Amino acid sequence: MGLLFIPHCDSDPMAVPECPIIVEHLSKTFKARRRSGLPDKKAVDDISFSVKKGEIFGLLGPNGAGKTTTIKMLSTLLIPDSGTVKILGMDVTVSGNEKEIRKRINLVSGGERGLYYRLTGRQNLKFFSNLYNIDKKKQDGLIDDLLRTVELSDAADVRVEDYSRGMKQRMHIARALVNDPEILYLDEPTIGLDPEIARDVRILIRRLADSGTTILLTTHYMHEAEELCGRIMIISKGRSAGYGTVAELKETVRDTNIIEIITNDDPHHAVVKISGDVSYSNTERSGGRYCTRIQLKDKADILPRLNTIFSEYGIRKIGYDEPTLEDIYLSLVSEDES
Ligand SMILES: Nc1ncnc2c1ncn2[C@@H]1O[C@H](COP(=O)(O)OP(=O)(O)OP(=O)(O)O)[C@@H](O)[C@H]1O
Ligand SMILES: [Mg+2]
Repeated sequence: MGLLFIPHCDSDPMAVPECPIIVEHLSKTFKARRRSGLPDKKAVDDISFSVKKGEIFGLLGPNGAGKTTTIKMLSTLLIPDSGTVKILGMDVTVSGNEKEIRKRINLVSGGERGLYYRLTGRQNLKFFSNLYNIDKKKQDGLIDDLLRTVELSDAADVRVEDYSRGMKQRMHIARALVNDPEILYLDEPTIGLDPEIARDVRILIRRLADSGTTILLTTHYMHEAEELCGRIMIISKGRSAGYGTVAELKETVRDTNIIEIITNDDPHHAVVKISGDVSYSNTERSGGRYCTRIQLKDKADILPRLNTIFSEYGIRKIGYDEPTLEDIYLSLVSEDES
């Protein structure tokens, strides 16, 4: 379990009835196939959170943590085993609600599914408008607006197969906006996009939230979550490992506990030597240098010792640093795995 007190919705001040998304004690287990010899998989294990109107809420976690399974239950594509999910005040498990909920939400998954590549952007939007029974007289105006929103007006009559990845992803978002959803689920919306295009997609996400759309976002990019999300839940092995605003999550790691060391060479062996003193460590190569961030178990001043141990790798910089969301994430997730 993580460092944080994890509020359940009944003690969560945000879980007010007008929250468009309220999740309480949600669980889902996938049964193993008969005769496979594999155990059942508990994909989501007693998670609770709520999302306010117009909020961008982040669901973060390693591969297989249960993010997509959660989104599927929140969008009525999967039935929960236990717990309650209220979407726009409607319980997803009550028969008849599913249809009403689907009219008022939409979902975008990263990757390249869900569009008709041989059709143009405009034809795709026409197809999906018909699917949602949008009044024919209003369709042309709506489609023009959507194309403008995602900045694809100039490519409206080009086949989607000729779009770049970024254009396709913006078209996915336009497709998900045809029913003017009150809630938009974005499952890794910027996966595989180059930084500039990912930034354009983030700007679009922010604009949608500012105009009142409630957004639940999953991402593996911490900077993206930090930039966009009001509040975040970090899940690991289906369970909540941390829940709160980025600032609240950061408060759980005192800044004197994080040390950053930049070296010329890969300090792998030095990191192994200090493993007893650290809660987690992470080394990334960037610009030909190695940046190692470590979180100390105790506040003990081990800088002189680190200086000695890391010196043979060519220290360019060493010192305490403010925690980043990535530090918090790695700390909570590694704690859960140990
Ligand atoms: N239809 C399914 N049948 C059986 N097991 C499943 C099914 N869908 C997901 N799982 C399992 O449930 C767990 C959670 O999967 P899920 O797709 O929700 O993770 P995720 O957090 O979205 O991961 P990623 O970051 O890789 O997208 C995984 O162990 C996965 O293998
Ligand atoms: Mg997923």
